[in-house]
Amino acid sequence: MSDYYILEAKRLCKAFGGLQATSEVSYSMRQGELSAIIGPNGAGKSTFFNLISGFHRPDKGRVIFKGADITTWQPYRIARHGMSRAFQVSNIYPMLTTYQNVRQAILVQQRRTLELFKRAEGLARKETKELLEVTGLDEHSGEMAGTMSQGDKKRLELALALAIKPDLLLLDEPTAGMSVEETHETMELVAQLNSQMGVTILFTEHDLSVVFGYARRLTVLHQGTLIADGTPQDVRADEEVQLVYLGEEV
Ligand SMILES: Nc1ncnc2c1ncn2[C@@H]1O[C@H](COP(=O)(O)OP(=O)(O)OP(=O)(O)O)[C@@H](O)[C@H]1O
Ligand SMILES: [Mg+2]
Repeated sequence: MSDYYILEAKRLCKAFGGLQATSEVSYSMRQGELSAIIGPNGAGKSTFFNLISGFHRPDKGRVIFKGADITTWQPYRIARHGMSRAFQVSNIYPMLTTYQNVRQAILVQQRRTLELFKRAEGLARKETKELLEVTGLDEHSGEMAGTMSQGDKKRLELALALAIKPDLLLLDEPTAGMSVEETHETMELVAQLNSQMGVTILFTEHDLSVVFGYARRLTVLHQGTLIADGTPQDVRADEEVQLVYLGEEV
């Protein structure tokens, strides 16, 4: 892992009406991390993701990503700068095949990076096949995306998020609604993207066995406040965390 901070969130605050969803949350990530943000329902995990990816603007605080202050940037610009998110809003076109979905995402990306003069179609064919292989979707490439299983749709969403070649990938509950087997397969894929493609990954997850099985660093939010941050062992031993998760095996 490098010493370079790919992401620095500084004292982020966000209120909805009278509710403080995020209070003074400071959080930094080094390039190459595979980390999780956990916390009970309503702790502010999704809000934090929305703040760093430009879907919400913080009331206070800054977000620095790859050296740029992106606090006021629109989501599309943040994505183009290399931050991608999956599993929140589905970007899948159900009436296109898996292959067509992935190729479309790659072509959009190439147009965005102004590679207009390259043979976009030809290039996209190779890259599409690679992405389908990486995400284990090659045998589904001709299937209509809308008719695939929940697990395969999630893989496709992951492939679409990867089409922009992100440096940082945000996954909000990537295994929600999955069977135990699908969950395991998806998290293995996530770990592989991190270790083999070098993508820095931040995910949220309710299933603590998944969290402890895959994240190398854990951060705990509770009522909008960051209450613990460290190795899974440290966080597991933390008294405040144990109180928040009272009754659950931490
Ligand atoms: N757009 C919004 N408008 C009003 N309130 C919101 C909005 N988004 C989130 N909230 C509130 O902010 C708090 C934090 O919500 P958030 O979705 O960030 O929690 P979470 O940790 O992602 O929860 P979960 O585990 O259930 O996904 C909640 O009380 C929620 O109702
Ligand atoms: Mg959430």
